[in-house]
Amino acid sequence: MAFSKWIAKKRMPFSAWTFFCLMSLLFGCGAADVLPYKDPSLAIESRVDDLLSRMTLAEKIGQMTQIERSVADPSVMQNYFIGSILSGGGSAPSPFASPSAWADMVDYFQTAALSTRLGIPMIYGIDAVHGHNNVYGATIFPHNIGLGATRDANLVQRIGVATALEVRGTGIPYVFAPCIAVSRDPRWGRCYESYSEDPALVQQMTQIVSGLQGVPPEGYPQGLPYVAGGSNVVACAKHYVGDGGTTGGVDESNTEVSFNELRRIHFPPYYNAIAASVSTIMISYSSWNGVKMSANEFLITTTLKEKLGFQGFTISDWEALERITTPPGSNYSYSVYVALNAGLDMVMVPINYQQFIGLVTDQVSSGFISIDRINDAVRRILRVKFASGLFEHPMADRTLFGMVGNQDHRNLAREAVRKSLVLLKNGKDSSNPALPLNKYVPKILVAGKHANDIGLQCGGWTITWQGSSGNVTVGTTILDGIKNTVSASTQVDYLESPDPGFVANGGYSYAVVVIGEPPYTEMFGDNDNLSIPQDGIVTMQNVCGAVECVVVLISGRPLVVEPYLSVMNAFVAAWLPGSEGQGVADVLFGDYDFQGKLPRTWFKTVDQLPMNVGDDKYNPLFSYNFGLTTGVGKTG
Ligand SMILES: *[C@@H]1O[C@H](CO)[C@@H](O)[C@H](O)[C@H]1NC(C)=O
Ligand SMILES: *[C@@H]1O[C@H](CO)[C@@H](O)[C@H](O)[C@H]1NC(C)=O
Ligand SMILES: *[C@@H]1O[C@H](CO)[C@@H](O)[C@H](O)[C@H]1NC(C)=O
Repeated sequence: MAFSKWIAKKRMPFSAWTFFCLMSLLFGCGAADVLPYKDPSLAIESRVDDLLSRMTLAEKIGQMTQIERSVADPSVMQNYFIGSILSGGGSAPSPFASPSAWADMVDYFQTAALSTRLGIPMIYGIDAVHGHNNVYGATIFPHNIGLGATRDANLVQRIGVATALEVRGTGIPYVFAPCIAVSRDPRWGRCYESYSEDPALVQQMTQIVSGLQGVPPEGYPQGLPYVAGGSNVVACAKHYVGDGGTTGGVDESNTEVSFNELRRIHFPPYYNAIAASVSTIMISYSSWNGVKMSANEFLITTTLKEKLGFQGFTISDWEALERITTPPGSNYSYSVYVALNAGLDMVMVPINYQQFIGLVTDQVSSGFISIDRINDAVRRILRVKFASGLFEHPMADRTLFGMVGNQDHRNLAREAVRKSLVLLKNGKDSSNPALPLNKYVPKILVAGKHANDIGLQCGGWTITWQGSSGNVTVGTTILDGIKNTVSASTQVDYLESPDPGFVANGGYSYAVVVIGEPPYTEMFGDNDNLSIPQDGIVTMQNVCGAVECVVVLISGRPLVVEPYLSVMNAFVAAWLPGSEGQGVADVLFGDYDFQGKLPRTWFKTVDQLPMNVGDDKYNPLFSYNFGLTTGVGKTG
């Protein structure tokens, strides 16, 4: 007995295990002495049953609790049996933290979790929504709207593989991605996190789940969580359901559609994600016809779990339970009661964990939340932890540090940028195309602040939550890319906002003007005028009025461009390309052709919104699926 306890507690390197097992055989004490839940040869459900039967209520509620790293420490992990930690947007162990500093932090908390009575590993989660975007020096891929423009599901799967490796390269096993919202209104500040307004395209792009988690073997049971191994991560499809359908595109608000419309537009990507064995699903902040999703038992339990057969765990968004009431947090006890009974399994608390744990404990003892509901939640969480190999490999794999920002991944991001660019206008008339640009002219002008700013080209969810302008991480700006691409004898002048006289007399063969939106995300990104910011308009008009110009728009969504199209010689939508600006130059100068097709309808005026492909009244500036090519032929 003392022996088996010792086996259960100690974690030994593999060779020690082998030796120990051989000795056990010789002395007649076999593997039966290993606690069943620690035995990887047993079926996952047997391990879950065994572990659940050993757990106290406090240990169970701890599993359901996800806290922010800033409030985590070893005593909190041990005293409350915390099941999960997250990094909120921009929450790093230190500015510019290296992969090893990230892994050290994760392992530090993990060591505390493993030191508890049952040694259940915690699972660390992070928003890795366009690469491992909180980590300085990681590869930043184009945001989802750009990936939707590529129409290349295989590319998106490869991005999933690369992202998983970079995330594992910091010791983290869990990502809050992909966002499979079907954004129906570009006024929503998270429009760029959506691959498309068209559910069918978002469905194709869910192939990223198979990149992040790995591809389940033939015949793997539908709905069961799956993670292939230590190079893959637990994924999270979000935000269930209808997040992209709120009225007016207002963040976190109300999606007012019939159940049939919800099923037709917003559900389809979830069918694919579940078929790909997505392990977790985040419940949306938004409401469906006035009922908060976090409180919607019909959509979470009856539909997602029972009807669609999802067997992984559901997780709330950040402080989503508070938002169930108006004003937020005014009746947290009620919030906890409705959310857990609706079917939330893990709660991203993430700060006031004592209050959360206290309320759940009280409500279980008073019968407001049944122990069956708690057991169902914990069973689902443990299932994901077993399926992902977390019990066998709880610590960071330090051989993967070099994955963060490596050249193969940057090349992949550059390919994605090339494929994401959508050419919307080429030449003032069709016999005079402006693109591809000539690399061998003596002198060109590059203008606009978005041309030389990594932060602006990456957008929100980059190093910080909202993102910011400036030299926020490692990468290649669009200007760097242009300089690398033109001939050695071509002079490239860069001016953020040149005056028209200077441009007209500068002897430039042409100009590339790169303008667009500032970085933003949820809560701050909603915009009901969708105008190009004024400084960009001024730069564009000053330059394009004086010399032949190609305008590249950096934005998370279509913006009002119709009034300016006539002054441009060519117009390219580059979305939010990420850290590899070279991909823009690759296509502008004809080393590759344009391939991108609009993943969204490009409206003329905001009063047309919402307007989506398939609508009866459809009168766009550029239709869904539009995109020109230059005929240079080479793609890829
Ligand atoms: C919280 O909500 C419950 C259920 O509606 C209600 O009984 C209780 O009075 C509320 N508490 C407060 C402080 O409003
Ligand atoms: C941006 O940061 C990188 C990495 O530290 C550095 O190499 C580069 O010179 C910086 N660029 C500017 C314009 O400051
Ligand atoms: C458009 O809306 C944004 C976000 O609310 C605001 O910052 C900007 O000033 C507005 N622009 C115009 C031209 O009204």
